[in-house]
Amino acid sequence: MRLSVIGCGYLGAVHAAAMASIGHDVVGIDVDARKIEALSRGDAPFFEPGLQEILTEGISAGRLRFSTDMADAAGAAVHFVGVGTPQQKGGYAADLTYVNAAVDALLPYLSEGDIVAGKSTVPVGTAESLAGRISATGATLVWNPEFLREGWAVQDTVDPDRLVAGVPSAGGEPDEEGARAVALLREVYHTAVAKGTPFIVTDYATAELVKVSANAFLATKISFINAMAEIAEVTGADVTQLADAIGHDARIGRRFLGAGIGFGGGCLPKDIRAFSARAEELGRGESVAFLREVDEINLRRRDRAVHLVVDALGGSAYTKKVTVLGAAFKPHSDDIRDSPALDVAARLHGLGAEVTVTDPEAIENARRVHPQLTYVEDRDTALRGADAVIVVTEWDEYRRELDPSHAADLASGRIIVDGRNCLDPAAWRAAGWDYRGMGRP
Ligand code: UDX
Repeated sequence: MRLSVIGCGYLGAVHAAAMASIGHDVVGIDVDARKIEALSRGDAPFFEPGLQEILTEGISAGRLRFSTDMADAAGAAVHFVGVGTPQQKGGYAADLTYVNAAVDALLPYLSEGDIVAGKSTVPVGTAESLAGRISATGATLVWNPEFLREGWAVQDTVDPDRLVAGVPSAGGEPDEEGARAVALLREVYHTAVAKGTPFIVTDYATAELVKVSANAFLATKISFINAMAEIAEVTGADVTQLADAIGHDARIGRRFLGAGIGFGGGCLPKDIRAFSARAEELGRGESVAFLREVDEINLRRRDRAVHLVVDALGGSAYTKKVTVLGAAFKPHSDDIRDSPALDVAARLHGLGAEVTVTDPEAIENARRVHPQLTYVEDRDTALRGADAVIVVTEWDEYRRELDPSHAADLASGRIIVDGRNCLDPAAWRAAGWDYRGMGRP
């Protein structure tokens, strides 16, 4: 099928390349000429495992191209809209400027029977407000939220755990136009459909809410375990054992019960805030009032990590050499948007510590946002002479491959703060380190 993907950021670039990899003929469109130039050369604009390969493959097979000209979307049967919906400046609501601009720019190139598939994460009610403009061209709007995780984005796009399509409906069922749109989307996702991937058809509002409520649930799960970590800290309990034990209950599950410095990234923080703002507008602020607590618990964990370092250093970080292992908001990513790791590094710097940051992928991005910090590519060089070390992103380089005795040979001090509870406390203590975890005795 001929497809267009409007917006070639994280979501769009991966979506375009992934759709080409399953045989479609795809054009990716973005207003950022530099991004389009890089993508056209086959250069992935960010670190995402597997993306480089499918980009190169799609381009050389002639199935994938990129353009800054919206006119190139004309002729595609399905137009995906995957532009950003950042947090508004000076508020919590989502900024829909890019979604509106993308749809307006696309309208002149739509034809009768085309599908516009919204993928951006939007406040509930957005699709309804866009549908009229789109149907006036003879095209149909569907809302097809994206659940990809950074670091697994290619796999999540090609082989998602579920597909959701919000379509024009009447009386709780897709109307004729909606049913046609569903059939087309099933063709688009033919590989996943053939595998029997759940394909859930809803109205617009439900589809929009599926996305935000999934992210709100995940954020809540992380903050729940971090709240337990706070209680563990005053009782001497160990939150990681607690998580293992409650995680065996299949109704609870162990995933996303990793206590530590909390969640960050381009989605969870902004999505829970936008959801709160939208619920307020709908007069149902109290229904998701807990998301405010979720946000606050999450942010407190960064203070806690900083406190652990300062406390271990004897009450002051001033002029102390602190090595920060990690800058990305999570491993397998070079994304530093709202990264708790980088925030902890910057706060330690603000307390007068001489902070050295290392990360396998995110240094370039981190330097742009926090030029005041010292960055070192090589992990061992970064560790040399450190008075204290803190792990804030659980890359394998730190979690599995860093031997405590080897680290002890490099550092001056023997303080290790485990901001992700990803190290083996016994092994580090045996090598002479003062190990401090998050919510662990
Ligand atoms: C998230 C959703 O998982 C995804 O479905 C949605 O499409 C986009 O938002 P992503 O932002 O890539 O994906 O990251 P995710 O893996 O969810 O992690 C978010 C943050 O939570 C990271 O900072 C991570 O370190 C943190 N986290 C995750 C924890 O602190 N503890 C955990 O147990 C799990």
